[in-house]
Amino acid sequence: MTKTIVNSWNEWDPLRHVIVGRADDCHIPPAEPALDAKVPEDSDMRGQWGRRPQDTIDRANELLDGFAALLEGRGIRVDRPTPIDHAQPATTPDFHTDSQFGCMPPRDVLLTVGSEILEATMSYRCRWFEYLNYRPLMQRYFEEDPRFRHESAPKPRLTDADYHPDYLSDKIGNAKRLEWAAAKHFVTTEEEPLFDAADVLRFGRDLVVQHGFTTNLKGIEWLRRHFPDHRVHAVNFPGDPYPIHIDATFTPLRPGLILNNPQRRLPDAQRQMFERNGWDIVDAAQPAHNSPPPLCYSSTWLSMNVLVLDPKTVCVEASEVYQMEQMDKLGMNVIPVALRDAYAFGGGLHCCTADVYREGQCEDYFP
Ligand code: ARG
Repeated sequence: MTKTIVNSWNEWDPLRHVIVGRADDCHIPPAEPALDAKVPEDSDMRGQWGRRPQDTIDRANELLDGFAALLEGRGIRVDRPTPIDHAQPATTPDFHTDSQFGCMPPRDVLLTVGSEILEATMSYRCRWFEYLNYRPLMQRYFEEDPRFRHESAPKPRLTDADYHPDYLSDKIGNAKRLEWAAAKHFVTTEEEPLFDAADVLRFGRDLVVQHGFTTNLKGIEWLRRHFPDHRVHAVNFPGDPYPIHIDATFTPLRPGLILNNPQRRLPDAQRQMFERNGWDIVDAAQPAHNSPPPLCYSSTWLSMNVLVLDPKTVCVEASEVYQMEQMDKLGMNVIPVALRDAYAFGGGLHCCTADVYREGQCEDYFP
């Protein structure tokens, strides 16, 4: 087995080593403030919690294993997490939760920047211990790569002071949610730094971070201080009534080209850095489905949650015919990957992975 090197500066350079999540023992967690604000108001998940049905776990694992094998077949090294017992309740001096979430999706927890892998603070109580699923891998990388920096952001307290109480109703309605999103009034307060790794996109020297439900301004400021050699940009998408995780909203494909969710347009003032440097921001194709699969947190826009293998090659979910067609027109080679039956476990092809090694160095794309 070749020794690990941790190195990844962006979302598109040739991928050589990646972590793919597992569905084992995943739970629908019990009610808690941050998560409740995110579960869609018309969702079949409201009011129920517990271990996910075994047949759905088995099916999701079959698809995740298939994706891992496909990547391995292309010469990419794939590592998998070691699930902890997600049925365990957790109590800290500040909160209690009756179960964990799972070890999907890794993208939410682990942020790779150069030779560093940073464990995010997370913002849900049920995901506070999720980093433990990846610790066996982190220990191994630490032993194998003398340059690897294993970092963990300060664990948040996640008391009720972290959440705005007006979000705790299950009858807010879309109009109100959009009004709040436009005003940048999200469920998380500014009590302490909070961020999920999946709110961050890496563009070499620049990090683009979504301000929303799972990442607050203090979290973005924490990232700014933690990565002093980077420029950290806060973005927000007023068209998204449930703004969590940037990767079904804004998807860079290669230097100069980004797909943007047409319902969640990046505001003009925030487009300038891209436009000044000749980057195109194009509307993503429509999703092929009218509704998400059962027991799913995400929207149908997981259609644009793609994994770029190199600037000419992209994995797209196999049923997303319009997205595949658009990729083809944009000059990308498309690899269809079946994953839809795993969406319920937290996301699509980008979500269910975390970078360990991509070729290339830290470039300045926005000089
Ligand atoms: N908020 C997105 C949507 O429903 C889903 C993003 C999932 N991404 C992730 N890394 N878990 O449109």
